[in-house]
Amino acid sequence: MIKLHHIIESQQFNRHFLEKELFPLAKEMEKIAKQGGSDILSGKKMFTLFYEPSTRTRASFEIAMSLLGGKVVFSTENARQFSSAAKGETIEDTIKILNDYLPDVIVLRYDEQGGAKRAAEISRAPIINAGDGAGQHPTQALLDLYTIQKEINKIAGTSIAMVGDLANGRTVRSLSYLYVKFPEVKIYFISSESAKMKDDIKDYLKKHNVWFEERNDLREIASKVDIIYQTRTQKERGALLEEHEKTESFCIVNQEVLDLMKKDAIIMHPLPRVDEISPEVDFDPRAAYFRQAENGLYVRMALLKMILL
Ligand code: CP
Repeated sequence: MIKLHHIIESQQFNRHFLEKELFPLAKEMEKIAKQGGSDILSGKKMFTLFYEPSTRTRASFEIAMSLLGGKVVFSTENARQFSSAAKGETIEDTIKILNDYLPDVIVLRYDEQGGAKRAAEISRAPIINAGDGAGQHPTQALLDLYTIQKEINKIAGTSIAMVGDLANGRTVRSLSYLYVKFPEVKIYFISSESAKMKDDIKDYLKKHNVWFEERNDLREIASKVDIIYQTRTQKERGALLEEHEKTESFCIVNQEVLDLMKKDAIIMHPLPRVDEISPEVDFDPRAAYFRQAENGLYVRMALLKMILL
């Protein structure tokens, strides 16, 4: 089994790792979780340091550690306010000090792009990037790919519509890097003019000869794709996105979109969902977003085993 250290960005993983290492181990972890857990990480200590709010990522990492017999011995859910960051301490100093308290792994959500990389540069303990501002969220992308494989039994040759606030969302950035490790995939970026995918990702796709197209109306392509990956407007990133809000009705997943979709397509969303997926969609079997969040637990259990054993 591969030994992992820091998890900072999606580009560090390849197709072999996903298909031959991570996906089989995540499947095994699902069985372990449903049987009540194990003690393979007994004696291992996790610190979780979150500068931005989280439900899924923090809960699933902490529960994953507990299910494998390890302990979460330090946890802060609002480090910007309740750690010495409030007094002006840098992330580098915080990580340096926390290392002296002997963690085996640190799960870090930082509120600026590049925060996890800065932390990894000075940390002896492995750093897991649980989201860094509008940068990346690599463990989300890993669980997203696992979900696609589990739900539609293939990734190569599929087509995806990434929808919503693509300018400010980190999950679509990490997913773009990882999805294109698979051959013959197609990406539609669907957003308003003010929320378009940033050039660095589009340049990466062009460099790797990946087919992509930009549109502003989900209804035009809903019948063509295997996956609709919806995202919310990232209001906390400070962008007003007035134009985006005026046109976002073209990007909502609702009954009209369900009626257009292929019968075996799926709808994903990293969550939290606000109003960009109508509640009636939850009752359609193609709504995979709650199953996707559940998969996060199994994928994070697998990652912790790869890092800590
Ligand atoms: N998908 C995700 O990162 O959710 P949380 O912000 O709740 O962790």
